[in-house]
Amino acid sequence: MSEEHGFSKGLAGVVADATSVSQVQGEVGRLIYRGISIEELAEKSTYEECAFFSLYGKMPNQNELNKFTTEMKASRVLPKAVEAVISAAPRSAHPMAILQAAISAIGFEEHPVNLKNEEMNIHSATKIISQLATAVARISRERRGLEPVAPNTDLSHAENFLYMLNGEIPNKDEARMFDVALILHLDHDFNASTFAARVVASTEAKLSLSISAAIGALSGPLHGGANEKVLEMADSIGAPQNAKAWVANALATKAKVMGFGHRVYRTMDPRAKVLRGMLEKLVATKKEKDTYETLRIVHDTMIEELSKTSKDYIWPNVDFWSGALYRLMGIESIDFTPIFAVSRVAGWSSHIIEMWRDNRIYRPAAKYIGPADEKYVDIKNRK
Ligand code: SDX
Repeated sequence: MSEEHGFSKGLAGVVADATSVSQVQGEVGRLIYRGISIEELAEKSTYEECAFFSLYGKMPNQNELNKFTTEMKASRVLPKAVEAVISAAPRSAHPMAILQAAISAIGFEEHPVNLKNEEMNIHSATKIISQLATAVARISRERRGLEPVAPNTDLSHAENFLYMLNGEIPNKDEARMFDVALILHLDHDFNASTFAARVVASTEAKLSLSISAAIGALSGPLHGGANEKVLEMADSIGAPQNAKAWVANALATKAKVMGFGHRVYRTMDPRAKVLRGMLEKLVATKKEKDTYETLRIVHDTMIEELSKTSKDYIWPNVDFWSGALYRLMGIESIDFTPIFAVSRVAGWSSHIIEMWRDNRIYRPAAKYIGPADEKYVDIKNRK
């Protein structure tokens, strides 16, 4: 039975499925994970607790959280095949391309999907959430020509990631800020990469292969790749005093300013506010202040100039401030989008687990605009 409905470019405004994992309230700039605001989770929770909450649909009690944390720590080591795929990748490859291949390699040994066994699927997801962080750190160290750092089970997920990335135990304040950044990026209803994960998983493809598809979607500069582009923009502006003129030129030439705009938010992205608050705290403790100062002027000028136009619905999004925060933690721009995946893998997995409860393969209708009735012309009679 065909249920054809209206056509909307980029599926704008199309309700593709129901979910209780998260909701983006675009008009009011609010984001909730299963009913709890991200501001409250950012203040009171941890990434491990939020990942459990997202996957299981309930906040863990202390015993459940201890078990989940232990399971994540026990899953941090990568399968040999995944390590081999990472080592085989050319150092010039973008880490997101290597990450997609690495997570696909988890699929070499992953059990076939059994939609009836949700507990098993959640354990598979927990393992992928844990191993994706190890993979991102290993890919970064190989690119920099450094020895991989083995996971440290004494550390939390956020602390251990920074430890495997930088080879030293992070200071508590920066590790907490990074943990909050992971909470903020965990889920965002039907963004492009989550939708990609759902489409692939709706065919009952393996979890790892659905997550791999999501990584491909996230790598694009219009989506997760924007955080890296924002820092490229700041570096190309060169100094805070050049920022105002740069924005005027960008708007005059209708260039897309990275870190601004959103399909759903029509006001400030609530995650940007929390990230900016943490960034301002960290900047105060560091010598390097120009990047923040440049972004602050771009931010304020964009908002001021756009408010005078019909595009006053374009506001900063989550990608505008995140990179400057990571840079002050010693993280290179090329690793910013993989870090987005370190967080979002919990959201992708939660959506897949939820969808498998009442699965129906995603297969939308198409609006055909090609010729209706053509005849085959033999090649000797073609021009
Ligand atoms: C993320 O979907 C999610 O939830 C994503 C995300 C998540 O958590 O998963 O929130 C994470 O991907 C955040 C977005 C990161 N991307 C960027 O910062 C890249 C720059 N932003 C744009 O490319 C754009 O705003 C999008 C992709 C985010 C949204 O694209 P839409 O909804 O298709 O909007 P559009 O491209 O149709 O733009 C509408 C108008 C256009 O002007 P006109 O052609 O009508 O004259 O607004 C303009 C655009 O040119 N516009 C911008 C702009 N974004 C839109 N103009 C200048 N700078 C921008 N950034």
